[in-house]
Amino acid sequence: MSARPSATRRTVLRGAALAPVIGLGPAACSPTGGTTAPATPTAPVELGADGEVAEGGAKLYRNHNVVVSRSESGELKAYSSICTHAGCAINKLDRTTLICPCHGSEFDAMTGEVLRAPATEPLNALPVRSENGKIVSGPAA
Ligand code: FES
Repeated sequence: MSARPSATRRTVLRGAALAPVIGLGPAACSPTGGTTAPATPTAPVELGADGEVAEGGAKLYRNHNVVVSRSESGELKAYSSICTHAGCAINKLDRTTLICPCHGSEFDAMTGEVLRAPATEPLNALPVRSENGKIVSGPAA
């Protein structure tokens, strides 16, 4: 004799709906841990080809914590992409808006200005130039 479980079909199907959430977890944000990346290059750094940054656009070089933008008139600007709020490395660029993963501050990559709190200070400007078809940022040697 077998005892039949009284579970309905609905009970069985509902159990399959839950899926584990995959952690995104980069440890890039540890403002109190003392492991944040340096705010600025200490020597000239070749970031990439000059053509990578279009007029009116911006590119985030995450490996160097630098964002480079180019005005409509072709002028290059560069800023440290270390958030001025608590030192997190900014890892997202939406068109020309930088978005900090830690507390949601936003910055204008064209000017370095704060677009959204909690940050109150603009990004630190860096020297930048086009040299032999490459974008170079950081203090002159
Ligand atoms: Fe960027 Fe707080 S460290 S918003």
